[in-house]
Amino acid sequence: MSRVAVFPGSFDPMTNAHLDVARRAAVLFDRLVVGVLNNPKKAPLFSIDERVAQIRDSVAEFGANVEVAAFDGLTVDFARRNGADFIVRGLRAVSDFEAELQMAHTNRKLQRGVDTVFLMSALEFGYLSSTLAKELAQFGGEIAGMVPPPVAVALAARFPQTG
Ligand code: PNS
Repeated sequence: MSRVAVFPGSFDPMTNAHLDVARRAAVLFDRLVVGVLNNPKKAPLFSIDERVAQIRDSVAEFGANVEVAAFDGLTVDFARRNGADFIVRGLRAVSDFEAELQMAHTNRKLQRGVDTVFLMSALEFGYLSSTLAKELAQFGGEIAGMVPPPVAVALAARFPQTG
């Protein structure tokens, strides 16, 4: 039986915490589809096409079982379209838990056959967030080691004073 999972997120932009979760999930599942939410209510720093391209470059080394796709609407519908029975999410700290628990219960209520699997973020990335990486890049802070190289390049281009 082939085990398929989606790893949904805003990924504006992908951080090394996300990348670490994707790397580990790629080993656990036969096929992993990283889903980049196109949320018209939010004004992201990077367009949906930019985010998809950055993540594709970042996960390229993980192998052919990792794909990246944009989606809108519900995560469970994205999972169903991809034949996925699992949603992967990373947990950095207890502070993530409440919102993630609510999402996991909601998704299970919407789609009984889809379970959420949590991976604990690597300890060294426990403090990291997309918001933090953007803020550091914007004000010239060091972001080496926080984001994958394609994201670092994109952030440097967006905030030229960083380089
Ligand atoms: O990276 P994020 O912003 O923490 O990801 C949140 C995301 C995209 C997983 C969540 O907002 C989501 O699943 N949005 C799609 C809409 C949906 O399915 N809502 C019901 C589940 S709460």
